[in-house]
Amino acid sequence: MAIKQVVDGLFVSFEGLDGSGKSTQIERVRMRLEAEGFLVTVTKEPGGTEAGQRIRELFLDHADELTPTAMVALLIAAKCQMLDKVCYPAAQAGRIVLCDRYTDSLLAYQVGGFQFNAQMVSAMLQASGANIEPDLAVLLSLTAEQSVERLEQRVSESNKLDRLGLDVRTRIANAYGYLFDPSHREGAVAIDAMQEMDLITDQILEAIHNTLRDRTVLDSEPSDVGVSSL
Ligand code: TYD
Repeated sequence: MAIKQVVDGLFVSFEGLDGSGKSTQIERVRMRLEAEGFLVTVTKEPGGTEAGQRIRELFLDHADELTPTAMVALLIAAKCQMLDKVCYPAAQAGRIVLCDRYTDSLLAYQVGGFQFNAQMVSAMLQASGANIEPDLAVLLSLTAEQSVERLEQRVSESNKLDRLGLDVRTRIANAYGYLFDPSHREGAVAIDAMQEMDLITDQILEAIHNTLRDRTVLDSEPSDVGVSSL
């Protein structure tokens, strides 16, 4: 099968509340794109690099004692590390990068959910260079109540139930709704996460193919491409 390389790569972020099914959908989308011949890299925020993994632990274990600035600095540090170590090299090799959460999480969780100062967050993002727009941002949309219901059903994730109250979850859901409002944003799509799984995968792939329409995709034989181990 011919290998498809996207010139300058493609960066797709996946967003949503706990229980929205991001990881399941990322895996399904990865398989479908690979079956089409694309080279795919899957990563996540925070935690997509070794340093990012340490930052994730620090962030999750010490959330109560971190100041807003310290917390935002840590989350941005993880994003910078992921961009330089994972995203940019993969994009340069013509790969599609599927990233579980990116800056919309920072805006929805820290600014929307926890009401951190929006100017502080956007100034720090701006200064860090991590404020890049994904080529496509996908929101798997759930209400706060649906998120809680899903978590209650998943024993493996029940520890996430205590992490956020319903009021915080509601503010996060509202912030996501605003961030993904098509009236003031391009390159972003909100998909109802309560739909049947196959339907959601199809809708994400349709959005990715639409985004790829404006990009140059090169077809080559696998032997011409020395990048598949990235
Ligand atoms: P984690 O268990 O790694 O993953 P999941 O994405 O499946 O929930 O939890 C990461 C948590 O970090 C999650 O509750 C969302 C939060 N988060 C932020 O608050 N801000 C951010 O910028 C990012 C990337 C994540």
